This record gives sequence, C-alpha cells and structure tokens, in this order.
Amino acid sequence: MSEHLLVEREQGVLTLRMHRPDKKNALTRAMYSGMAEVLAQADQDKSVRAVLITGGESCFTSGNDVADFIKAPPSGLNSEVFQFMQALFEFSKPVVAAVNGPAVGIGTTMLLHCDLVYVGRGAKLKMPFVNLGLCPEYGSSLILPRLLGHARAAELLLLGESFTGEQAAAWGIANQALTDGAEILAKAREMALRFQQLAPAAVADSKRLMRAPDREQLRRVIEEEGALFGQRLRSPEAIEALTAFMQRRTPDFSTFA
Ligand code: COA
Repeated sequence: MSEHLLVEREQGVLTLRMHRPDKKNALTRAMYSGMAEVLAQADQDKSVRAVLITGGESCFTSGNDVADFIKAPPSGLNSEVFQFMQALFEFSKPVVAAVNGPAVGIGTTMLLHCDLVYVGRGAKLKMPFVNLGLCPEYGSSLILPRLLGHARAAELLLLGESFTGEQAAAWGIANQALTDGAEILAKAREMALRFQQLAPAAVADSKRLMRAPDREQLRRVIEEEGALFGQRLRSPEAIEALTAFMQRRTPDFSTFA
C-alpha cells in the first residue's frame, strides 16, 4: 500500500490517514488505490464498526495531485480515484471525517459522502473546479444545490469560493466546527467509537435507508459528471489552469471563447 497512507485500528474504528505532508496530502493514484482497498476490506471485516478519514493537524488534503492530473489524467470507471469514490459511495458502515486546514477539491467532495463530519473552525474548504477548467464531481452538482440552495451552491461551484469550518457546520455539510487542531480528531474518534456499542446491522440498514432515495439519481449524475470531468481534464482551459498552478502563476483564460 502507498507509503502516504497510515491505517490504525482502535477497537472497532479503522482510521485512514492521508499522510503526504510535503505536498499538503495531495492525493496520488497509489493513495486512491490504497484507500479503495482499505474501504473494501473494512466493509467485509465484521470487527470494523466505523471508518474515520483524516489528514494532518494543519491540512486535510489539497485534493488530487495536480501533477498527476497533467501526466495521467484519470478517465473512466477503472481510474483509481473513481474506485475510491465508488467504494466510499457504496460503503455500508458509518464513515466519520476529521478535517483541519485546507480541504480542496475532492477533499471537500468526499465529505459529502461521509456520515459524520467534524471540522476546525478555521478549516478552508474549497471546490475550485471551474478555476482549474474542470467541473463538479461525484455528485456535488446534485448534492450541494439541494443542501444549500442554488445561489449559495453557485458561489462554491461556479466561482470556486472557499468557505470555513464554521460555514460548513452552519450549512449542514459538517456536524460541528471545533477549535482547530487535535480536538477535531478526538471528537471524531469519540463519535466513531460510539458505533462499537451499537447494533451493526441496525446501523447499516439505517444508513442504507437514508441514502436510498437519492442513490439511483446520484449514480446517473456521477456518471455524467465523470464523463465531462474526463473530457474537461484534456481541454485547453484545464491544461492552461493546471500548468499555471505548477508554474505558480495565475491562469490566463482571456483567449478562450
Ligand atoms: N497537487 C500537487 N502538489 C500540490 C498540491 C496538489 N493538489 N497542492 C499543493 N501541492 C504542493 C505545492 O506544489 C508545493 O510543492 P513544492 O514545495 O514542491 O513547491 C507544496 O505542495 C506546498 O504547497 P503550497 O501551495 O506551497 O502550500 P500552501 O500552504 O501555501 O497552500 C494549499 C496549501 C493546499 C492551500 C495550496 O497548495 C492549494 O490550494 N493547493 C490546491 C491545489 C488544487 O487546486 N487542488 C485541487 C485539484 S481538483
């Protein structure tokens, strides 16, 4: 498994930590594969009652590795990122997230598929897909307007504006915003450990029922977003934006029609 993933077990809670601090936990193909594999095993392992996803105390994740986007743009259902998000989407047990610092791109999108989310008040969540010449992914174009209303979702998805942990909690993306730092992981762990005391099949049935009404529609949206995202990644707009990020300059879209 990737050296940038740390997996720990405490009673029935499996903690999956993204750990690539020099690149702000940017997610590589190997990390996605590893995360998909851990989730698949945890789903089968009866002794795992909940999964906790976290990053570091100063950064959750800066999202997909931008160099990977340029070198090996993911496409289709076999891509590592799709396999990870699919495993999260289908995961039958509760998933808890502990978020400190930046949660960029898929770092925010994945929270929409977790069950309980604890964030630092100063966390900075952002889905800068348009800023990168891309489009929303993994159901966010459906979930966010439903949750926040079109106008607020448009600020996040059409402008790529960032929002704080406080806002995430006020808008229902997170359960609670707490003091930044160790407190977030402690709270997430405390809540995840509660599932150790609960009837696992009742919890799984309840999660399935909660997700069921939107499941088919979400599957279709995820497919449509995925096809478009793959095309957009290869578009001149995205190539300009991704290259600009790597060159630490502002992208220039002035010549695009
Ligand atoms: N992919 C690849 N490398 C990344 C990265 C990403 N998503 N995010 C950060 N890095 C790298 C930087 O290139 C830099 O590498 P270097 O030290 O070799 O130059 C290192 O991580 C530190 O990043 P830096 O931007 O200097 O840190 P910061 O504290 O100023 O900002 C972030 C942190 C997370 C706010 C900023 O890096 C960022 O916004 N990244 C997001 C990239 C993005 O758009 N991701 C979404 C993809 S859909």
